[in-house]
Formats: sequence, C-alpha cells, structure tokens
Amino acid sequence: MQKRSNFSSKIGFVLAASGSAVGLGNIWRFPYLAAKYGGGTFLLTYVVLAVTFGFTLMTAEIALGRKTGLSAIGAFTALDKRFGFLGVLAAVIPIIIFPYYSVIGGWVLKYFSVFISGNMKAATGDDYFTGFITNSVSPLLWFFLFIALTAIIVLLGVEKGIEKVSKIMMPILVLLSLIIAVYTVTLDGAKEGLIYYLRPRMSDFSAKTILAAMGQMFYSMSLAMGIMITYGSYMKKDDNLEGSVHQIEIFDTGIAFLAGLMIIPAVFVFSGGDKSALGAGPGLMFITLPKVFASMKFGGFIGTIFFIMVFFAALTSAISLMETIVSIFRDKFHWSRKFACVFVTVLSLILGSLSSLGFGPLSSVSWHGMSILDIMDFISNSILMPILALFTCIFVGFIIKPDVVADEVRVSGGTFKSEKLFTVMIKWIAPILLVVILASSIATGLG
Ligand code: PHE
Repeated sequence: MQKRSNFSSKIGFVLAASGSAVGLGNIWRFPYLAAKYGGGTFLLTYVVLAVTFGFTLMTAEIALGRKTGLSAIGAFTALDKRFGFLGVLAAVIPIIIFPYYSVIGGWVLKYFSVFISGNMKAATGDDYFTGFITNSVSPLLWFFLFIALTAIIVLLGVEKGIEKVSKIMMPILVLLSLIIAVYTVTLDGAKEGLIYYLRPRMSDFSAKTILAAMGQMFYSMSLAMGIMITYGSYMKKDDNLEGSVHQIEIFDTGIAFLAGLMIIPAVFVFSGGDKSALGAGPGLMFITLPKVFASMKFGGFIGTIFFIMVFFAALTSAISLMETIVSIFRDKFHWSRKFACVFVTVLSLILGSLSSLGFGPLSSVSWHGMSILDIMDFISNSILMPILALFTCIFVGFIIKPDVVADEVRVSGGTFKSEKLFTVMIKWIAPILLVVILASSIATGLG
C-alpha cells in the first residue's frame, strides 16, 4: 500500500483548493455575467448561493475524500459499492475538461508572451486572435507547453509540487489583481462602469439571474468533478474542514469580484460606455482586452501583469484537474506517480489537440453549431456536472446520510456550525435547484 500524500498544513490545503477554484471562470466569465444580470443584484445572489449551495457541496466532497482517503472512484465505492459508478462519472469529467482547459491555457501563455515582449500592438488587430487559433501548429505548441508545465508540477507531488506552487502563486495572484483593479478603477471615466457593475438593478433581475449565478458558482468552486474529493483525501484529519471551506469561498468570490473591478470600468472607458463590448468568452479576454490595454497609459505593463495573473489562475486550476485524474488512476491501478503522469499527459495531448485543431483543420466538425472545444465544454459543464452533483446530493442525503459528512467535519474537534443548513440543503434544496439547472442548460445549449 502506498502511503497517501498530505498537504502539510491547513493553509496549504486552502491555497491549493483556492488555486483550483480561482480560474478562467472567475476572470472572464464572472464580470460579464454580473454586468449582464443586474449588477449588484447578481453579486448578492451569487454570494448567497456560494455560502449555502456551494458551501454544502464543497463540504460534502471534501468530507467524502478525507473520510475515505481516496479519490472519487474509490471514495464512492468504499462508502457504498452500488455507487461506484458515480466515481467513474467523476473521473470522466476532469478527463474531458483538462485537455481543452489547457488549450485555453496555451492561448493565455501566448498572449503573455506577446505582451511581455512588447508586441502588444500586434495583438490589437481585429483578426489577430482568429488568425492565431485557426493556425494549426502555433496554438498546439502553446498548448503543449502549458500541459508540460502542469505535468512537471503534478509530477513533483502533493506537498513539493502542488502545495508549494499554490503557496507562491496564489498570494502573487491576489497582489497582481489588486494592482490592476486599483489602476483601472481610478482611470478617468471609470465611474460609470463601476456603477454599472455594482449598483443593483432589479429590472435586470429574473429567474435567469439565479440560474446564471448558480451555474457560475458551481463551475467556479470546482464542484462536481472529483477535484474536491481528491484534495480532501490529502487533507489532514486535524485541520478544520468547515473553516477551510469558508476561506476557499472567500478567496474564490473575492477574486471574481476583483476581476469585475479590473475589467468592467476599463472596458467602459475604452468603449465609451458601450456595454456590448463586455461580451463573454474568448472575445472579451483575447480581442477586447488587448485593445483596452493598448489604449491606456502603462497598458503594456498592466497587460503583462494581467496575463501573468490569468496564467497563474489557469495553471493552478489545471494542476487540480490533472492531479485528480492522476490520483484516480493511481488509486485504481496502483501506478507510480511518474507512470500515471506520463500516461495522463499523453492522453490529454491527444484529446486537447483535437480541441485545438477544431478551430483550424478540423473546423468542419461541429454539433449544434459548437466547435470540438465547445462540445467538450457543453458535455462536461452543462450535462455531466449537474448530473454528478445531483447524484452526490442524493447519495449523501439519503444513502450514506448527512451524519457521515457531519461526523467527518467534527473529526478535527469542535462543532459543525452549519449542520442544519447543510442537511436541509443537501437533501432538499440543492437537488431541486440542480434539476432546474440541468434542464435549463440542456435547453439553452441545444436550443
Ligand atoms: N474553477 C475554475 C474556474 O473558475 C474552473 C475549473 C474547471 C477548475 C475545471 C478546475 C477544473 O475557472
């Protein structure tokens, strides 16, 4: 039996899990959603959901991991043999996400290289981004580099690789975010953007706001992909689980909030208040923002630190994905870390290359108007994740019972302060909300 690795301290665990949670979703998706769905009302809705729904699922996953000391497949099987299939589902999700997430990570590295080498102007052309991703070789090379960096850290192991890198990168990420946010909110004319971001607008509030906030929260907190189970399995028994979850929530929501402060005022100043410039997705990060940076004083510098920050965010998330996959194979087949890393790297290079080439030579492959990358994203995020989360709630709420999680939370000594909230959420409220998310994301995705 191999001895299970551990995070050496609570702060190591919290920073690694926050590293997973803080990712591309916080930076390019949250600001856009907040701006679109009612500003302050969206923020408030998001926070309420994070501390109830998000808290519940994250606590459950970390507890399942720590209790069993195993990653997803082993954890579900150990608690109830009939539910091993949930572990398999939890294994499939990161296997799908990791490759395409790394393709986007490669794009971030490319933009970082453009900014740091002082070629920012080149990236402001309208066709620059499209030209880059439709090229077959260049995006593949950046993708390979991103995966290689991730693999090296995962190869170094939980304490010497993941924990160490998180302890360095996460504080730097906070610092860089603060620098950029302070700079952009003090730009001339930033006030209008700030008001748009922060002032509650009930007129833009609807059931859709709740759905959008919920979908975002779920992805942003890295729930329902086996990650928190895996990281939980490396958490020490005497570290406070409930307190850690609260710290991760604060970290994740804080960075998302700061991303809005960085992006929305700056885009407003640049576009003269034209909200359509805030469109979501790759367009915002790789087309609009380079233009915004190019238009401001010190833009080359701000753009460079912005892309380093995004790179750190993406890398620590990719590490958690890869570690989850590696851990699953190691638990299942008792492979060495080295062999598992090589295997996962090769597998991901193959799958990711398909996503990357899907914008160039393979662009004829599409389904309901989605590229290969979008298809992978749709299957994992819109279908498999809500299904897994729903089953996890049913599993904890009715099969093993919430007490098993509550006891695990109390293992470190002390009480489980939010036990009542947890029990009601996991048995009733979360499953209902999840069915609604699932139905609506299938309807929008295929609509
Ligand atoms: N939570 C990450 C984000 O907000 C997303 C992520 C997805 C992380 C998958 C790990 C795995 O971007």
